[in-house]
Amino acid sequence: MSALPGSAEGTAVTGLDSSPVDSSPETLADLPPLTEQTRLEAREIMARYPQARSALLPMLHLVQSVQGYVSPEGVTLCAEELGLTKAEVGAVATFYTMYKRSPTGRHLVSVCTNTLCNVLGGQRIMDALSADLGVHHNETAPDGSVTLEHAECLAACDYAPVVTVDYEFYDQQDVESARELVAALRRGEKPHPTRGAPLSDFRGISRQLAGFSQWADAGAEAAAVDAPWSAGPTLIGVHLADERGEAAPPMPRASATSSSGGEAAEAAGIESAQRGAPEPSGRSLADANDGTDTPAGTEPGTSGQGPAARPRSAPGPATRPRSAPGPATGKA
Ligand code: FES
Repeated sequence: MSALPGSAEGTAVTGLDSSPVDSSPETLADLPPLTEQTRLEAREIMARYPQARSALLPMLHLVQSVQGYVSPEGVTLCAEELGLTKAEVGAVATFYTMYKRSPTGRHLVSVCTNTLCNVLGGQRIMDALSADLGVHHNETAPDGSVTLEHAECLAACDYAPVVTVDYEFYDQQDVESARELVAALRRGEKPHPTRGAPLSDFRGISRQLAGFSQWADAGAEAAAVDAPWSAGPTLIGVHLADERGEAAPPMPRASATSSSGGEAAEAAGIESAQRGAPEPSGRSLADANDGTDTPAGTEPGTSGQGPAARPRSAPGPATRPRSAPGPATGKA
């Protein structure tokens, strides 16, 4: 465990930070300073929240957009503006992996090595990039072009194996495509992500995450927002279910056993999904309202004293037709 350098609470530890914040003189000498403009933008972020301290996460992204990591100077700025101790700011900054403890390269390349991506070659990709760049996890190539990290599930398992650059997706990679991608980044190119907004760089996306546009003008910003995205692999299961006439079983409706309960459930925004849809073969509706396959009274550890079964005849709230489109989602 390590204390946050520069902190007045120098002995404070989070228990979570296995690597110290980089405060070496060489690093600090090279950093662009946090300016009055940075401080004004931090206050702009704070003004968005009823409780100013809620602004800490985007403020840390703002610091990274200027200095490429959460520097000791950035910790101080956040603490001063929010009335927190540096240890409190450090505890947050060291909890989340998106906050970096040493200066990040121009691009952050994240390789998913979690289960599905790994089965499909994620670790081989990581090993190949590591060899090409001459760095390990969380290290930056000597030319400053790329910081490499392995990541735990980038929430795009249906596109496995995935690599992100500055959090933009490059789907269904293999060793060679990932090597070409990183080689292009090192040449100063910006290959277009598989889906979504164009690639910028780590500081640019950090500015976006702080809640400011990273784009030069409104047109470029609108084009990034409206950039094409693909949902092919994501929707394969939905299409298969449609073909087979299958639907998800009804949601348990614990508080909807009376008409007033039903109204209350509906008022709370609870929808009964596809109540009229056919059950998949082999699935009984006998347990539909319990949300369990264990008959009442037979739960382990009970003596036949389980909860009484609720009637399944209670009317449900209005349902959304199966064919109704759900809300469009961006990244997984
Ligand atoms: S396992 Fe790689 S994105 Fe989920």
